[in-house]
Amino acid sequence: MASPHADVMDKLVSLCKRHGFIFQSSEIYGGTGSVWDYGPLGVELKRNIKDRWWHAMVRGRDDVEGLDAAILMHPRVWEASGHVAGFTDPLVDCKTCKGRFRADKLADARCPQKPSKRPGEWETCALTAPRQFNLMFKTFMGPVEESASMVYLRPETAQGIYVNFVNVQQSTRQKIPFGIAQIGKAFRNEITPGNFIFRTREFEQMEMQFFVEPGTDMTWFDQWKADRMAWHLALGLDPDRLRFHEHSKEELAHYARAAYDIEFDFGGSLGFQEVEGVHNRGDFDLTRHQEYSGKKLDYFDQPNNRRFVPFVIETSVGADRVTLAVLVNAYREEHVAGEAEGRTVLGLHPTLAPIKAGVFPLVKKDGMPEFATRLTAELRRTQPVFYDESGSIGRRYRRQDEVGTPFCVTVDGQTIADQTVTVRERDTLRQDRVAANALPAYLADRLAV
Ligand code: GAP
Repeated sequence: MASPHADVMDKLVSLCKRHGFIFQSSEIYGGTGSVWDYGPLGVELKRNIKDRWWHAMVRGRDDVEGLDAAILMHPRVWEASGHVAGFTDPLVDCKTCKGRFRADKLADARCPQKPSKRPGEWETCALTAPRQFNLMFKTFMGPVEESASMVYLRPETAQGIYVNFVNVQQSTRQKIPFGIAQIGKAFRNEITPGNFIFRTREFEQMEMQFFVEPGTDMTWFDQWKADRMAWHLALGLDPDRLRFHEHSKEELAHYARAAYDIEFDFGGSLGFQEVEGVHNRGDFDLTRHQEYSGKKLDYFDQPNNRRFVPFVIETSVGADRVTLAVLVNAYREEHVAGEAEGRTVLGLHPTLAPIKAGVFPLVKKDGMPEFATRLTAELRRTQPVFYDESGSIGRRYRRQDEVGTPFCVTVDGQTIADQTVTVRERDTLRQDRVAANALPAYLADRLAV
């Protein structure tokens, strides 16, 4: 079903390139298929999202530990996890247009040679029978390219957590229930990547595995569902654009006993799509790793003098996909009262904005640039700020609006006389006169939401 929200993807791609949020990878060589690079503002935005996740999931709690496991793992890990046998998509080729499609997504796909046809109209196309295609990237460890030295680029970060379960539990002396969280790159050789950074072949996941006593798993599952939805809302995502989607029996992954996606409405024909999965993985992973490694991965419950393999509740969210949701949610074009030209605004949550304040001298004379430069240096000790003296003041405001900067500070003639500055708020356009030496506290107060 088409979304009531406009499709802003093309406008966002262009804004992101123009202002240095996101560039196509290896652009000067014609680009690499569905791989993207984060520019100066994009890297700040994504880092702010990852920092919020790390704080909510690790630093702000005493029952979740952090981890940074390596991308390359022992190849047996992926046999145990089920990825070698089962992490496949059914692939069909079209002999006419040479396009490649997922057999299970044909209903939503369009023939590239006949885009005027509606999605799913394939009667006149020469499609091959589906064949299973494994999504894991393979490479070789060491100098010899032979099957004995083959390794995979991890398709999820979760397995690094399972194989370290005992290491983390014993070194931290955590008691169940507790979790392990990590942020890291994952790689999937997707058949149909696309929609900007929505589905790419290299991406970042923020995953947490929470180890619980069997029987308490559904209570924890419900708790994590609620906590994770609250996290997305706290980023400023519009509540009307967020919803849960429960996986049916047919949709459940091989490891899952129950699963919900948190979906965001990306607008246009893309509409509601998964940004995060919350899964009850039971004891599938630890049991399989016990079997394949021959090492015990159970937990000793001292008070009750018994051992058991914990059940796992997983929360798994893509850092890039949340970045896209945040950008789509923030993008707006609006009319400004009393002005002929409208403006484009990224209404980013202040804590996510790459630049917190723009600092402008009204004109390039009368001591204003010097005052504004000193003020910028002072503010930069605690916040990322941006000094700009080029172009009209209106143009400078517009540039900051477009990159989501919540405040603009202007140094004018009055500043030199009484040491006060004007602070303009991005969304309300309200202007406050503030003493320059009170500015760090003024900003800190408003950015601590
Ligand atoms: N460990 C469980 C797991 O990986 P998943 O549903 O396959 O579950 C979790 O992936 C999240 O990772 C997704 O909700 C999405 O945000 C992100 N993700 C998965 N594949 C992606 C891709 N090709 N590009 C960008 N993000 C992706």
